Amino acid sequence: MTRTYRIAPSLLSADFARLGEEVRAVIDAGADMVHVDVMDNHYVPNLTVGPLVCAAIRSHASVPIDVHLMVKPVDRIVPDFAAAGASFISFHPEASEHIDRTIGVIHEHGCRAGLVFNPATPLDWLMHTIDKLDLVLIMSVNPGFGGQKFIPHALDKLRAARKLIDVASARTGREILLEIDGGVKIDNIGEVAAAGADTFVAGSAIFGAADYRATITAMRAALAEAGGPA
Ligand code: DX5
Ligand code: ZN
Repeated sequence: MTRTYRIAPSLLSADFARLGEEVRAVIDAGADMVHVDVMDNHYVPNLTVGPLVCAAIRSHASVPIDVHLMVKPVDRIVPDFAAAGASFISFHPEASEHIDRTIGVIHEHGCRAGLVFNPATPLDWLMHTIDKLDLVLIMSVNPGFGGQKFIPHALDKLRAARKLIDVASARTGREILLEIDGGVKIDNIGEVAAAGADTFVAGSAIFGAADYRATITAMRAALAEAGGPA
């Protein structure tokens, strides 16, 4: 089975004092997207960056910007991230009072919409949303911090999500990415791909290593071994 794989370094582990440079370096090293973690110290116990920073990195990013919102409420801030250059905007169902409306707001502002599943959040939320989604993001850590350990049961969830996505895509012809976020490293990315993921967020594994290109190249080699084109 051939699948296009995308590697999305999470800027959470980048050097925030040199963010533009870090974005350029990681793209030069082979990143397919850049993942921006937005935390509000309310929905998750950490505070990161808002639309201003997204707009600031935009001119440095020649690849899509993948915004992961860990904020509550969601809708008010969506247009700001769209204006700041986001390509994908993903949110957690627990953080939105009206999930269908939030997906609509993201689309109305010209972005692709993703729904994010925490480790204990059931995939049931896909039942009435999948035909509107462009991305499904499975969390393999509890959201809020980089550098946590991959939770193995995320693999079962990936397999289940893969089946649902394949059925939906076969029926509608729409592309839906299946992204994994948390604890992805060179030594487990192959297993994660075999479970069905096609888009891989990695923060500490990439920015924590001295040579970004070597890390991304090793990840691609592991992906090629797992079965698809790297
Ligand atoms: C966690 C964030 C992740 C995080 C991943 O809440 O959503 O994107 O940066 O970091 P690593 O790859 O270090 O687990
Ligand atoms: Zn994230």
